[in-house]
Amino acid sequence: MAKEKTGKEIFDTYIAPSLKEARKRMTKDTNNFLFEIDDRYIDMGIKIRDRKLTYMVKTYGCQGNLADSEKICGIMDALKYTEVDKEEKADVIFFNTCAIRENAENRIYGELGRLKNLKKRNRDLLIALCGCMPQEEVTIKRINESFPQVDIVFGTHNIHKIPELLYKAYKSNNNVFEVMSIEGDIVEGMPQKRISDIKAWVDIMYGCDEFCTYCIVPYTRGKERSRRPEAIINEVKELVEKGYKEITLLGQNVNAYGKDFVDIKYSFANLLEDLAKTNIPRIRYTTSHPRDLDKDTMDVMGKYENIMPHLHLPVQSGSDKILKKMNRKYTKEIYLEKINYLKKQVPGLALTTDIIVGFPYEDEDDYNETLDLVRKADFEGAYTFIYSPRAGTPAATYEQIDEDVSKARLLKLNELINEGFAKGNKRFENSVVEVLVDGFSDKNPEMLCGYTKHNKLVNFEGDVSLIGKFVNVYIDKAYTWHLHGTLKSDALQK
Ligand code: 5AD
Ligand code: SF4
Repeated sequence: MAKEKTGKEIFDTYIAPSLKEARKRMTKDTNNFLFEIDDRYIDMGIKIRDRKLTYMVKTYGCQGNLADSEKICGIMDALKYTEVDKEEKADVIFFNTCAIRENAENRIYGELGRLKNLKKRNRDLLIALCGCMPQEEVTIKRINESFPQVDIVFGTHNIHKIPELLYKAYKSNNNVFEVMSIEGDIVEGMPQKRISDIKAWVDIMYGCDEFCTYCIVPYTRGKERSRRPEAIINEVKELVEKGYKEITLLGQNVNAYGKDFVDIKYSFANLLEDLAKTNIPRIRYTTSHPRDLDKDTMDVMGKYENIMPHLHLPVQSGSDKILKKMNRKYTKEIYLEKINYLKKQVPGLALTTDIIVGFPYEDEDDYNETLDLVRKADFEGAYTFIYSPRAGTPAATYEQIDEDVSKARLLKLNELINEGFAKGNKRFENSVVEVLVDGFSDKNPEMLCGYTKHNKLVNFEGDVSLIGKFVNVYIDKAYTWHLHGTLKSDALQK
């Protein structure tokens, strides 16, 4: 009989993710295939451990990861595991991780360290690390050397392999690593356990080919590849039938949707228009890239009432010099021209953005250009970050700037952003807005909360029966982070 392999040996048989290789990848045709589960994997708990097993998924990072977690849960339910909400009760814990900045990663290493004790209490417990971190070479090395408590490691392209990976982990009692596939495929038909029955995320494409010099995503998520239009449109039609009220189309750079099709000419604008015609009440999308946001898309946004008047358009910097070093391929002027055009098509548009400060070579003049752009663009919100070097990306090798300088820049920028946030809310004071009711507010459980078309958070008093409905709310007061309102007597819309 062949000798059982050790965890290390199994690791060595896999191709570790390589940032260098990822940059060389070609736009070869994408493999599309349908997800299936082999019967032998169903009810593994009973078959292998003689009892029903449980699982928990911990999600970090962006909406892409949240959508992936819904698929992990979908697969685990199909395998007949039961979802639990406490680590102590779980037989499998998934860490669906984010690699975008160093502090996100450090948090996860801290959590993994803590789990050693849990493993002593539950000898069946499997710890699975997935998402973006395993796609980095440095993570794989560190996990392999210092975190033996991690049993399964798989990357963003291997979610459909969960049944097989779990099976291998039980059968071999070894660590199972499956990361790679730098290009990535498209797997249709994975079960998805949606966390909401009101709002849904819909993946329209995977990966990113932009290679902004600071960003790890093109390496962790593979090449840009679009789902076929029919698959997306059918998914949305099903959501409409099930009574969903809002969809958010997801991709790292949704404006590049369709560029990889070799047999059809079909763009993001085409998709947006076809989806607008499905009668889904609200459509949002994220994330956009200013270079690829085209006139057709902006025109479609202006044409359909059910495409929401909010756009998240990450600008990153207002300095042309820095934008060039970031490989963003647009200038401050082009950015402003585009948003001005869009604001004409969509009057009252709410614009939000992402900004990085402290990028290598950013001097006071560059930083002031960013502040100037923030004023001119009238952002009503922004995620702001201090640049965090990511191993393997070009910018990590540039000369870094002083951390205290970056911190001071972030503080001052945030003040300006908060002013924009407050101003964006203030414009709705003393008016009636349409709110899609999400549920009770976390901060104030007596109040209902929901979002307006412009993506403004509203708190108001109301009955539980309104959850999932559209209501008209009169805004009596605007705060920096939310609006406070009162239900109109003819509140219920549809
Ligand atoms: N450092 C800081 N911020 C980053 N982002 C991406 N990579 C980095 C990095 N290395 C930010 C960008 C992006 C958002 C999702 O995260 O602003 O738009
Ligand atoms: Fe990263 Fe977005 Fe640039 Fe792609 S477009 S490399 S995801 S910042």
